[in-house]
Amino acid sequence: MFELFRKRRKDIDDNISIDHDNIPKHIAIIMDGNGRWAKQRNLPRTVGHKAGVETIRRVIKECDKLGVKYLTLYAFSTENWKRPKDEVSALMDLLVEYLKKEFDELNKSNVVINHIGDISKLPDKCSRELISAYEKTKNNTGIVLNLALNYGGRSEIIDGVKKIAQDIQDGRIGIEDINENIVSSYMYTKDMPDPDLIIRPSGEQRLSNFLLWQCAYSEFWYSNINWPDFSESDLHKAIYDYQNRDRRYGGIK
Ligand code: IPE
Ligand code: IPE
Ligand code: MG
Repeated sequence: MFELFRKRRKDIDDNISIDHDNIPKHIAIIMDGNGRWAKQRNLPRTVGHKAGVETIRRVIKECDKLGVKYLTLYAFSTENWKRPKDEVSALMDLLVEYLKKEFDELNKSNVVINHIGDISKLPDKCSRELISAYEKTKNNTGIVLNLALNYGGRSEIIDGVKKIAQDIQDGRIGIEDINENIVSSYMYTKDMPDPDLIIRPSGEQRLSNFLLWQCAYSEFWYSNINWPDFSESDLHKAIYDYQNRDRRYGGIK
């Protein structure tokens, strides 16, 4: 039904040729612009969020097809609790509905449905559904989908620091053991590679507390397209641009 509201885009170039041998292993997306998308159509913000779910479906499929190994989607930040109660509860309901409706398809496609963030603060029905989806899919061998929920980069670092302090106090590690790899292993994304590419639609050019530790050398790509209008072609464009960046990591080529 959202097709009715989606404008036909003239700026889409479907002829981009992606190098299939250089696909980013980990793509992270700040799914932004649902509210503005709805406002432009005189629709309630929640309709924008619903339209955004359809984009999620398409983007997961396309990333899987392209051979992306990890896809992290920023769905609810630690700051998003500041929004009106109605919007927060609509987002939580949408999450449960999404997990229930999409589970079979995702599981059939071999997707690992993982989550990052402090989900203990989400309503019970959400955390229950997330834990169950993870338990049932954790042995799948396809793309790892990280749903970032009640996620904040600073909270993640604080949680990690507390666990490190505890492990030092209990004698499990020594201060001299602390290095970048150890700190990474205390983040929610332990065992995953850092994101190669961070995508933010909607025109904003900020991280909004997303993956602060992991983004040290991520390539950043943004576009004015609102998330519900973000298409497979936009994903191709982002990957194409990424492939044409020179990742020097501080060195010289
Ligand atoms: C992103 O869209 C979804 C969430 C943050 C949950 P927004 O709701 O932030 O949309 P805008 O930025 O108001 O357009
Ligand atoms: C970032 O978007 C969080 C998510 C997409 C979940 P926001 O819309 O909350 O970010 P700000 O407020 O514009 O920085
Ligand atoms: Mg926003």
